Amino acid sequence: MKIAVIGTGYVGLVTGTCFAESGNDVVCVDKLAEKIANLERGIIPIYEPGLAELVHRNHRDGRLRFTTSLPEAIAEAELVFIAVGTPQGEHGGADLRGIWAVGEEIAKALDEPKTIVIKSTVPVGTNAELARRMAQTTDIPFDVASNPEFLKEGAAIDDFNKPDRVVVGVRREEVGEQLHALYEPFLRTDRPFLIMTPESAEMTKYVANCLLATKISFINEMANLCESYNADINEVRRGIGHDQRIGFSFLFPGVGYGGSCFPKDIRAVIHMAQSRGLPARMMEAVDQVNEAQKDVLVHKVMDHFGNDVRGKTVAIWGLAFKPRTDDIREAPALVLIDALLAAGASLRIHDPEALDNVRAIYGDKLTYCDRPYGALEQADALAIATEWNEFRNPDFEVMARLLRQPVIFDGRNLYDPARMAALGFTYHGIGRAKVSPEECATITDGPDASTR
Ligand code: UDX
Repeated sequence: MKIAVIGTGYVGLVTGTCFAESGNDVVCVDKLAEKIANLERGIIPIYEPGLAELVHRNHRDGRLRFTTSLPEAIAEAELVFIAVGTPQGEHGGADLRGIWAVGEEIAKALDEPKTIVIKSTVPVGTNAELARRMAQTTDIPFDVASNPEFLKEGAAIDDFNKPDRVVVGVRREEVGEQLHALYEPFLRTDRPFLIMTPESAEMTKYVANCLLATKISFINEMANLCESYNADINEVRRGIGHDQRIGFSFLFPGVGYGGSCFPKDIRAVIHMAQSRGLPARMMEAVDQVNEAQKDVLVHKVMDHFGNDVRGKTVAIWGLAFKPRTDDIREAPALVLIDALLAAGASLRIHDPEALDNVRAIYGDKLTYCDRPYGALEQADALAIATEWNEFRNPDFEVMARLLRQPVIFDGRNLYDPARMAALGFTYHGIGRAKVSPEECATITDGPDASTR
């Protein structure tokens, strides 16, 4: 099929590339000339495992092209995907100016019937409103479908290629069939292709993200409760997860969720509810719990140092909002950096991919370390904000030697408290029980092997 994808952000670039990889003829459009020039030269604007290779190969083979000209891109396309950003606007609602502007441009350039597919995350009613606006500009018939994207950063290619489900919202059966043909190669034997109304499709994306964010705020609140009663959230997780109604996934306590989706989407839903005069009590609580949780390491560090970190050096491992990405949007690590800097600490920071993005914000206020162990030199403590795999099994002896004091604030519960105590570390996890000295004498097993 001939496809145009408008917007070369995370979703647009991954979508275009994966459609090209399955044999389609794809043109990606972006109004940022420099971005397009870079993509033409094989420079990918984001770090996403596997993406660069796929872009190179499909670009080389002519299935994936880049342009700044929207009319040129859509001239031959049967399907036009809109994947522009919908950032948080004033009052917490999604800012849809990008969607309306692209719709207007498409309508002006339309010279034959086409299907427009909204992939961006948009409030319910956007599909209908886009169709209404476009019909004011053009007399050529067109369809507007909604096709929310559920991919996760850091696993985007895999998620796109092997979706748990594909959701499309259409007003005509033929459009559903057209999209089904496009997605057929991605639907493993048992993966559902769900056709529904555009309104339900738009809502599905928000409901999914709201529930996932709710799970995280829920487990974070429970973890804090565990900690204050000397229960261990890891044991509790095992205690609840085997109940098939509950399960294990997305119930890892930590330093709060970040990234480009959850914070903005939860606030967009609050705004959607408010604009209909409905309460959004749960989502407001989820957002508040998360904002408070981003301070959890700040409190632990300040408590440990008697509320005075002036003259102290803290090492931080992990800056991206999650592993396998260089994305620092709404990253909890930034809250930690801001608070510790304001309190007068010096910071030595390390992240396998996100250092440059952090440097662009903080300049020479921080010491940037290419290697994790380098960050520990002459540091009074280590704080861990992101669970990169390379932090899971470090050489604790080397760490203890490099740190001035063997103190770890682990915002992702990577290590076993009993083992850390036995190794002589003062170890603060999230929602972990305190270990008594008698217990550590008997501990011989390895670090906690829990993985996400
Ligand atoms: C999310 C959704 O998962 C995805 O379906 C949607 O399309 C976009 O938003 P993403 O933001 O890339 O994807 O990352 P995700 O892996 O979902 O993690 C989001 C945040 O939640 C991260 O900050 C992560 O650290 C945190 N998280 C996740 C937890 O704190 N605990 C968990 O158990 C899971």
